[in-house]
Amino acid sequence: MDKIKIIGGNPLFGKIYISGAKNAALPLVCASLLTDEAVTLKNVPQLSDISFLNKLLLFLGMNIDEKHENLDTYPSMTYTYRANAISNLIAPYDFVRKMRASYYVLGPLLARFKHAELSLPGGCAIGARPIDIHLSSLEQMGASIEIKNGYVIADAPQGLKGAHIIFSKASVGATCNILMAATLAEGVTKIENAAKEPEIANLIDLLNAMGAKIEGRDTSVLTVYGVNKLHGAQLSVIPDRIEAGSYAIAAAITHGKLELINANPDFLQQPLRVLEKMGVEIQEFENSIIVNAVGKNIIGDDIYTDYYPGFPTDLQAQFMALMTVADGASLVTESIWENRFMHVPELCRMGANINIHGHASAIVRGVKKLSGAPVMATDLRASFALILAGLAAEGETIVNRVYHLDRGYECLEEKLRAVGANIERIKESDY
Ligand code: UD1
Repeated sequence: MDKIKIIGGNPLFGKIYISGAKNAALPLVCASLLTDEAVTLKNVPQLSDISFLNKLLLFLGMNIDEKHENLDTYPSMTYTYRANAISNLIAPYDFVRKMRASYYVLGPLLARFKHAELSLPGGCAIGARPIDIHLSSLEQMGASIEIKNGYVIADAPQGLKGAHIIFSKASVGATCNILMAATLAEGVTKIENAAKEPEIANLIDLLNAMGAKIEGRDTSVLTVYGVNKLHGAQLSVIPDRIEAGSYAIAAAITHGKLELINANPDFLQQPLRVLEKMGVEIQEFENSIIVNAVGKNIIGDDIYTDYYPGFPTDLQAQFMALMTVADGASLVTESIWENRFMHVPELCRMGANINIHGHASAIVRGVKKLSGAPVMATDLRASFALILAGLAAEGETIVNRVYHLDRGYECLEEKLRAVGANIERIKESDY
């Protein structure tokens, strides 16, 4: 497994181009299963999660054409998906275990082909991650669901029917899955307590461009008027707000100044306000953000993760890294996932002072300096927290299990090196 080596201490200066959002691209790609016409997606990030999903779709019988975009530095892709020869309605264990969001094929396959089989995703490092809301909603839409040999077997021989569904939690995944399923259901589906993340608005834009009739974009009540058929469409993946937030913290923790190009500040209001309270200067533009921490004294602040537009859980670990070197104490409360402090022991190995209270809260008391150490990445965002700590620490940090980062950060080392970081990947073959 590759490792990343960082020599800390360099302040970061320059521009970083923010890639397309992984969590938007995943459901957009699966929406292409809803039509036999071509769906073209631009600004798709080159990440292992996307290549795993493409492999699953190829396995189902999807045709995929790829084209490199003419972007200056980074390799985002345009993919054209044609689901005109789907021959397989089963998402097997080997795909789902590598990429949980494979569950996004369930709604589209069931809606269009009236049958789907999906290996149950199971848990992961950050918690149990059930899909009960997805399944009970499909049942409310007339599907029969059976769990057998670790698989969800879903049938709707007469097609799905519109239903009034109230989610018990504002699940991002369930909102996407049920939206996609409802586009081809007979009648009207109303989803209450839907998630409002920007990635869902991106999906609604694609589905409506494909001929779906969805009302309520950006609100927690979505109404879908089912249609018989969807057609092809083209859309760009929105910028990755979590990647942008992660690099904003890279500027803050190194006392540098970064311009984040192709970042939408509207998607990051809570994290940007917290950064300001911590002493960082933020300038917002339509498509970029400037983060300036040169000569600033970083002070502790509290965060509470919540559903959008609340503070994103996917930036919790990265903010915690910044808090470890802030003046004073910070309180971090994680309300979305039950086990999302796996980065804490690793940060403490680098000299951080963090105490976890119960499952959901951690108190971070800022220290003067972190010191480099070999550390273990446990999940995608926790891995970036360790990169941040390494950028700020004295000496050498080796981050192990880099495959987590490859799931969600396009060209990570290249982007950081270009703004002055001393960072390199050590290939498994080199050690
Ligand atoms: C998505 C993001 C993930 C982010 C999370 C919360 C993708 C690919 N992943 O994950 O990065 O951390 O949103 O912003 O977009 N829940 C249930 N039953 C369900 C579904 C969810 O109880 O059927 C619970 C979960 O355990 C969790 C909460 O609802 O406590 C939110 O989960 P959800 O929004 O579904 O997360 P994902 O879509 O899996």
